[in-house]
This record gives sequence, structure tokens and C-alpha cells, in this order.
Amino acid sequence: MKFIVKESKEEVAVAAADLVEKVIRRDPACVLGLATGSSPVGMYQELARRCKDGDLDFSAVTTVNLDEYIGLNAEHDQSYHYFMKENFFSHINIDMEKTHVPEGDAEDAEEEAQRYEKLLKSLEPCAVQLLGIGINGHIGFNEPGDDFKLETHVTSLTKETITSNARFFDSIEEVPNLAITMGMGSILRARRIILIALGESKQAAVKALEDALITPKVPATILKVHPDLTVICDREAAGLLDRKNIISDPS
Ligand code: F6R
Repeated sequence: MKFIVKESKEEVAVAAADLVEKVIRRDPACVLGLATGSSPVGMYQELARRCKDGDLDFSAVTTVNLDEYIGLNAEHDQSYHYFMKENFFSHINIDMEKTHVPEGDAEDAEEEAQRYEKLLKSLEPCAVQLLGIGINGHIGFNEPGDDFKLETHVTSLTKETITSNARFFDSIEEVPNLAITMGMGSILRARRIILIALGESKQAAVKALEDALITPKVPATILKVHPDLTVICDREAAGLLDRKNIISDPS
């Protein structure tokens, strides 16, 4: 595992975009695993700028998203379908047929989770999986619990996550309490994992990656078994890290 610490969230965005650009240049038809939330937004903007400038081509890329709220359709402005279109897909030359997000308004959410898992298994492993991290250490919507779920599944959001995500909704009552999420097995299948953490509220979760045992109480700790995990943080998120574990060159 590598910890890369940058001075600002803008620098984090550029460092993460550099890594993703390298992956796409190496394999223009790769599969990218994508996340929503505030952490990757700067990186999406940076990648979109490079695409507009003609430096990066997404036309052959396939994407799979980590998760979606249950009960929100693709047009809802807080659905992850909508988020991805607004923040990324509508700014790059991607073929929308090659983008995949679990369907939050499927009639049967359990069936939808199974369909999504099958889809993931039918594709090449992700060349890179991008992740944010919850303040409680969740990854995707793999919330703290008694075990790790390996496959795509339906999950209840914890109070902590609902409270944290209320910032994106008009009121906390509007935050769905169920979601479909990739499991940790699907996430770990990626060839490379890049986790972005920004701000002081992520300090404890990032520190857990450095020194906690692997425990489902902090789901992100299972990422430690991955042979190619890069954590890119700003100074605030890295506040509790041991300085000797930090590197600055993201290659
Ligand atoms: C979103 C996701 C979540 C977020 C996490 C951090 O697809 O999978 O795990 O990455 O909740 O969210 P932000 O970046 O908004 O702090």
C-alpha cells in the first residue's frame, strides 16, 4: 500500500487523474471502476478537461459504478446515475452503452444485485477501481458489520452514513436507507485500487488503513490485502498518518 499526500484537493485530483490517464493509455479499452461522492469530483473534472483538450480518449472504455441508492430512479438529482452524468459522463466521449450503474428503481432489488454481479463477472477485471472512503470506513456502501460481503448486495445504510450524506439532500428524511453495492470481493478483483480521501473528517478512517487489523468493523481495512493499493490524500485527511509511510511520487 502506498500513501501519497498532496497539499490541496486540486493536487490530489491531478495526481489521481495522472494515474487513471496512464491506465487508459496502456489499455484504451479497459474497464474502470468508478465511485460517486465528493472525493472523486475534482479528478473527474481533470479527466474531462484532458478529454476536451484531445489528450484522452474514453470511446472504448467501459465503466462500472460501485453503488446506487434503492428507490431513486436515474433522473433523480441525487441518484448516482444522475451524479455520474452530471459530473463525468456528459463531459467525456464515452459510449453511454458501456457505462454501468446498479438500477436503484429495479422492481426487485435483490435480483438487480444478482444481475449486476453477473455483469461484473462477465467483464474483464477493472484496470483500476477508484474509491472514496466513509468516515466510518465504509467502501462503496459496504458498511461496518460482523462480516465482509463479497458479492453485490442490498444493504441498509448506517445512521452515520445517512447523516453524512444528508448534505446532498434537502433534508435527512429524503436520504434513502437502502442501497445496492458491489461487495468487497468485486472491489478487490480490480488490478489496481486508488482511494481518494479529503478533509479532516477522514483522518481516522485513513489511519485505520495504516495500522488497524483487518476487521469488518472498518470495511476499508480489507483493502490492505490488495497488492496494488494507492491512497491519495490531502494534508488534512493524512493528519494522523505516520510520516515514514508517506511518499509524494504517485508513479
Ligand atoms: C460512493 C461511495 C461511498 C463514498 C464515501 C465517501 O460511490 O461509494 O463509499 O466514496 O461515502 O463519500 P465522499 O467522497 O462524499 O466523502
